[in-house]
Amino acid sequence: MKTYQTNGAFADNYKFLIGSIIPRPIAVISTLNIDGTNNLAPFSFFTAVSASPMIIAFSPMIRTSTGDFKDTVKNILREKEFVVNFCTEDNYSQVNLSSTELPFGEDEFTFSGLTPIESQLVKARRMKESPVHFECHFRDMLCYGKNAGSGSIITGEVKLVHVDESIMKEGKISTELLKAVGRGAGNDWFKTDSRFEVERLTKAQIQK
Ligand SMILES: Cc1cc2nc3c(=O)[nH]c(=O)nc-3n(C[C@H](O)[C@H](O)[C@H](O)COP(=O)(O)O)c2cc1C
Repeated sequence: MKTYQTNGAFADNYKFLIGSIIPRPIAVISTLNIDGTNNLAPFSFFTAVSASPMIIAFSPMIRTSTGDFKDTVKNILREKEFVVNFCTEDNYSQVNLSSTELPFGEDEFTFSGLTPIESQLVKARRMKESPVHFECHFRDMLCYGKNAGSGSIITGEVKLVHVDESIMKEGKISTELLKAVGRGAGNDWFKTDSRFEVERLTKAQIQK
């Protein structure tokens, strides 16, 4: 085994992160620009945090090309709300396009061929092509630096969940029908169609 001392170099550290932490789910975050147009961008540094209250987190890094916060962050800090949409086998090419750096105010839904629909609680629109939507209120932001590539954590409290009934089976979201895709290292993406079941051990079995 070779040992590496982590250093301040973004590229080296980033490669260890995206190579080891796989597969990563992809949150497609929609927010409202200051002029009322839509902003959309994918984030694979994304996880569930709390079930009660229902909290999710994602990690936008400072943009390497400008050293500035990404538009998603600026919009969330101003509007205090956002929507989490999900990336699937049916929408991943458009989601990938939505990560393009467009001039501020240019609508990433239009650019990517995705459809904005009104939300019920928040002003940010939902992505019609996503079978699940979480309408969120901004909760907290932790920042880990001001340099290009420095990350942060943004948490949101999920206030409304919308689920397309066609992906539900016996009252639950079916992994088979959701067809979520995730991100790996470099240009690698993952499908969720290669699954296996493992029964969780009960306390009695563990103590045997
Ligand atoms: C699949 C995918 C996952 C991504 N995940 C992240 C991420 O976790 N953090 C991040 O800062 N950027 C991530 N990006 C890059 C952003 O989507 C990209 O910088 C985007 O332009 C940000 O848009 P905004 O300025 O409208 O917020 C990802 C891109 C793709 C295609």
